[in-house]
Amino acid sequence: MRKINIGIIGFGTVGSGVVKILRDKKSFLAEKTGIEICIKKICDKDLTSKRNVSIDKKLLTKSALEVINDPQIDIIVELMGGVHPAKEFIIEALKKGKNIITANKALLAQDGSELFALAADRGKSIYFESAVGAGIPIIKSLRESLAANSFSSIYGIVNGTSNFILSRMSQESCNFTDALNEAKKLGFAESDPTLDIKGIDSAHKLILLTYLAFGKMVSLKDVHIEGISQILPADIVYAKELGFEIKLLAIAKKEGDGLEMRVHPTFIPKTHLLSSVSGIFNAIYAESDLAGDLLFYGPGAGQMAAASGVVSDLIDLTQDIKAGLFRPTMNIVADKSIKRLCSIDDYKSRYYIRFMANDKPGVLAKISGILAKYGISIASVTQKERSRSHVVPIVMVIHEAEEKDLCSALNTIDRLDTIKEKSVAIRIEEV
Ligand code: HSE
Repeated sequence: MRKINIGIIGFGTVGSGVVKILRDKKSFLAEKTGIEICIKKICDKDLTSKRNVSIDKKLLTKSALEVINDPQIDIIVELMGGVHPAKEFIIEALKKGKNIITANKALLAQDGSELFALAADRGKSIYFESAVGAGIPIIKSLRESLAANSFSSIYGIVNGTSNFILSRMSQESCNFTDALNEAKKLGFAESDPTLDIKGIDSAHKLILLTYLAFGKMVSLKDVHIEGISQILPADIVYAKELGFEIKLLAIAKKEGDGLEMRVHPTFIPKTHLLSSVSGIFNAIYAESDLAGDLLFYGPGAGQMAAASGVVSDLIDLTQDIKAGLFRPTMNIVADKSIKRLCSIDDYKSRYYIRFMANDKPGVLAKISGILAKYGISIASVTQKERSRSHVVPIVMVIHEAEEKDLCSALNTIDRLDTIKEKSVAIRIEEV
């Protein structure tokens, strides 16, 4: 049976999961693919921590170049994460004639165009199934199974940490900090969860989904990004009363000749499939012209789920090598109907708004006066609590308004003496 050698750079949670699958399912995979996948080298800067898999110590090295320069290795699996030096390692490996598998969404979102071009130039492939949604087969589906489709929108719940936090806040009525601490305790959140809760990890994943669905590699600076740390349990209670759930959505959506790219907490109707995606689960909802509306759902993180995606890439690549095929990383064709990226300023939506105000006569009149000045029409107002001395939430739903008008109105309102905290506005999405 033909053998294909691989080298793994990054022996952390996902790396050791890949090693475990290749060991435990060795004969199953060989029977399925007709190829024996052999791990030739594993690189990590930490060779002492215990992993849940036993390996021959001779495979281990601290030197990535030792893996990259090994002429017997055909495929480099990069699982170290971070942009540098992962980028330099991948470039070097491509130059040495290796194919690449990576889960590194931050790197691909930032430098994917450069890396894919270099790979094509060298006749090599970069596969990245587990970069979005761990084991959910969304990359292959967009690239291959749905290749004949054009897309009008992609809505993703693509960050398990944020979704876990919002779900806990919704189900247990706990606050953001308690939910985050629980996520950390259960091992769902990274030790530094900043990229997750600020929406940046979701934006990286959205950039990759957009590349596949719309044929455009968008820069992070062109994605409007808001995180979830400003959400209060009260917002979730109000959302439910109004018939919504709050989810951190990553959205790429065609609007006329433009493409909207945004990540933000969103009110979505309780009746929509995405509203029931809870905990660390991810889901990607795609609206396509031929296959219709599709939902991809599954665990968005976790050792074996992510390793499953990596091994599926390994199987694809070994089949390509066996058949002597070169499938360029992407046969990406830009959607020609998209002429520009939309500015968030021009985005129109209904909004939920929470003001934290002193409970005094005239406060509501002032707020509504300012909204009216900017042409913003109120659909409903709620103030549940009542207290003369304390700050109370005033909750509004407004009819469709332009983002720039709403921002100007909120800036003015937030400067009123009676407004005690920065107002929070959350878009209501008609998914
Ligand atoms: N930190 C990510 C998440 C998992 O919380 O979804 C890896 O992409």
